Amino acid sequence: MSKFTFNNISYTCSENETVLDVLLAHEVAVPSSCRSGLCQTCMMQAVKGTPPGAAQKGLKDTLKAQNYFLACCCHPDEDLELALPDTQTARVRATVSNIEKLSSDIVGVSLQCEQPLDYKSGQFINLFGENSLARSYSLASVPAKDQHLTLHVRKVPDGRMSSWIHHELSSGDSVEISLPVGDCFYTPGNAAQPLLLIGTGSGLAPLYGIARDAIAQGHTGPIRLYHGSTNVDGLYLDKTLRQLTRQHENFSYMPCVSDEPVEQQDIASGHVLDVALQEHAKLAGWRVFLCGNPNMVKAAKKKTFLMGAAMKDIHADAFLPSA
Ligand SMILES: Cc1cc2nc3c(=O)[nH]c(=O)nc-3n(C[C@H](O)[C@H](O)[C@H](O)COP(=O)(O)OP(=O)(O)OC[C@H]3O[C@@H](n4cnc5c(N)ncnc54)[C@H](O)[C@@H]3O)c2cc1C
Ligand code: FES
Repeated sequence: MSKFTFNNISYTCSENETVLDVLLAHEVAVPSSCRSGLCQTCMMQAVKGTPPGAAQKGLKDTLKAQNYFLACCCHPDEDLELALPDTQTARVRATVSNIEKLSSDIVGVSLQCEQPLDYKSGQFINLFGENSLARSYSLASVPAKDQHLTLHVRKVPDGRMSSWIHHELSSGDSVEISLPVGDCFYTPGNAAQPLLLIGTGSGLAPLYGIARDAIAQGHTGPIRLYHGSTNVDGLYLDKTLRQLTRQHENFSYMPCVSDEPVEQQDIASGHVLDVALQEHAKLAGWRVFLCGNPNMVKAAKKKTFLMGAAMKDIHADAFLPSA
């Protein structure tokens, strides 16, 4: 049993509870989304006391040094005094410069930040809404090529943030986003290494960014992108990616449809992971990027590792739903 104070109120945390569990149980408005240490929306700071190391996993060293931690992973082992991060340092204001329909349930959102944002294609930002609502969205844009940040947002039935983005957000609106988070991005240094990118649904967003970023950084090895959807309508960047294939001989794209019959010869029928792994039976020496549906990402991590990809070469972002 430990204690912490937040906004001058003292709370007790039992062994099985996290700081976030306790605050939410007391209806304290703190942002949170994945509740599994991935999205970093629940970041808080210990202004007195030291947070446990396990609650700082994945944070930058500069944040760790200032006693920032993730409330959803924090089982305090000493008494702490807590604060929310100063919004001026942890958030960036941006204006919606464009919203366009990409498919029946995916929109592309372009954002112009008030100050330049240092990011890598494939990382994600947290978008903040009202009442501490926060959700993560991956960056499809490429810093060296695109003026604005681009997100691809799928509408989740009854989803609070995605419905708001689809139905209420419009060009000219001002929003708040976090600094970029995550390590699912291309790093230069091994330009000839083959790259395998597998994504489902709007999991194409980070992969589209990563593939174009690799090309922009002079990657010479093969870049094989597989995009899975339940239906043909969900292949929302089909034309753009076919054009990219024509422009770069080391880039290829394979659309896959799992839940309806397809007539086109150039669309694979079946689950994206099965299609991709049938065509790449040996993955020793490959760098792998996996994004989208959490079940697909989990299975793909295991299978690509068993097929020879080194753990250090497997990069993944599972689009975990909010808890
Ligand atoms: C690292 C990361 C990156 C992400 N990047 C993207 C991205 O680029 N594009 C994108 O569209 N989304 C992305 N997501 C998912 C996104 O953060 C939200 O979870 C999603 O938009 C739903 O939020 P919501 O507020 O609309 O739904 P909520 O109000 O949170 O949920 C409504 C209901 O739908 C369920 N639900 C929520 N999400 C899903 C889902 N994905 N599948 C099935 N059921 C669900 C919830 O459990 C709940 O029952 C990402 C998630 C993570 C963790
Ligand atoms: S990291 Fe804590 S809610 Fe996502």
